[in-house]
Amino acid sequence: MKNNIIVTGGAGFIGSNFILDILGASNSNTPDLIINLDCLTYAGNLENLESLKDNSRYAFVKGSITDKNLVAKLFKEYQPCTLIHFAAESHVDRSIRDSGNFIETNIIGTYTLLESARQYFNTLNEEDKAQFRFLHVSTDEVYGSLSKNEAPFNEKNKYEPNSPYSASKASSDHLVRAWYHTYQLPTLITNCSNNYGPYQFPEKLIPLCIFNALANKPIPIYGDGKQIRDWLYVKDHCKAIQSVLIKGEVGETYNIGGLNEKTNIEVVNQICQLLDQLKPRADGKSYVKQIQFIQDRPGHDKRYAIDASKLQSKIGWKPEESFESGIDKTIHWYLDHQEWASHISNGEYQHWIEKHYS
Ligand code: NAD
Ligand code: TYD
Repeated sequence: MKNNIIVTGGAGFIGSNFILDILGASNSNTPDLIINLDCLTYAGNLENLESLKDNSRYAFVKGSITDKNLVAKLFKEYQPCTLIHFAAESHVDRSIRDSGNFIETNIIGTYTLLESARQYFNTLNEEDKAQFRFLHVSTDEVYGSLSKNEAPFNEKNKYEPNSPYSASKASSDHLVRAWYHTYQLPTLITNCSNNYGPYQFPEKLIPLCIFNALANKPIPIYGDGKQIRDWLYVKDHCKAIQSVLIKGEVGETYNIGGLNEKTNIEVVNQICQLLDQLKPRADGKSYVKQIQFIQDRPGHDKRYAIDASKLQSKIGWKPEESFESGIDKTIHWYLDHQEWASHISNGEYQHWIEKHYS
């Protein structure tokens, strides 16, 4: 079997970082070919992968993970040793407004991939079966919300998803688990905390804050801004996924976290202060002035925190970036990629901003 990897959702934020990192790495695990299956929703951006357009180890296929004929054809044609499943509808606020795509992509799409993978897996010889992995990328949001003094989520926490997004991801995790237990498909699940870094679509808090600050627009904070998230620099997440692929035990789940619990208002203040130094406002005032507290998100989860000790002890992974170093890199990246940013602000994006924040 060739070292071919199918990546779903590779034109999105984490998937494109993953593909760029893995093809840029010079180690023995570098794949022969990465096949990126992505249907290019508003969140998929091929500009992220522009540097790979002449790379013979990269192929892009435009299509949906819900298209079972296409997915089966890709398995047959490329005979992959690994599938890494990033593709999803990923934004909580959008799931609250319209959950249909979340059910379709996150649940039906994952089911379609699992079924095709199972049929393909059954055609493999024993040696190839031992190599094959289906890695499902999921979120800490499946565990629900923590109060201030509760212990961080570990892999044994009960699933208590609260938003249509997290419920759809929880459903997909359950399907993956069942395909391992029932059919012995060699699956791995990772549940990660909030990511930030290059190429993130500016509907999520950190890039939205940077975009709006620089555009002299209000920086919206939901409710009192005291909700807590555990922030992980995206490159650390990509390294964790690679480590789980190599060392993870099939059928297992691994939590991935950044050891960086912060309230939203702390995050936004920190971004404003860094921008004050790196790109001061014309009037000399702080970007903090642009912060605006707005109506809270319905069902807003109070706190997420991850206990990543299993990943550390069994796999040997821990995050390399602190929030301070990661946010500094992130802001520099956005300042250096203003053209990428301006291309993102297309019609659909403006429409979302008007609809959601007006
Ligand atoms: P994203 O929204 O930036 O990208 C999703 C990608 O999937 C896009 O390229 C989109 O075009 C593609 N896609 C959507 N529907 C598809 C379909 N039906 N068929 C094929 N492609 C489709 O998401 P992201 O932030 O990169 O997240 C990637 C994965 O990581 C998701 O599964 C998400 O649940 C999970 N995750 C994200 C975070 C985070 O903080 N962003 C944290 C933990 C886990
Ligand atoms: P987000 O980036 O949407 O990720 P998630 O909801 O998956 O955690 O939001 C991160 C936090 O920031 C969350 O508590 C909601 C809050 N938030 C705001 O306060 N204002 C905003 O405009 C957005 C998009 C998020």
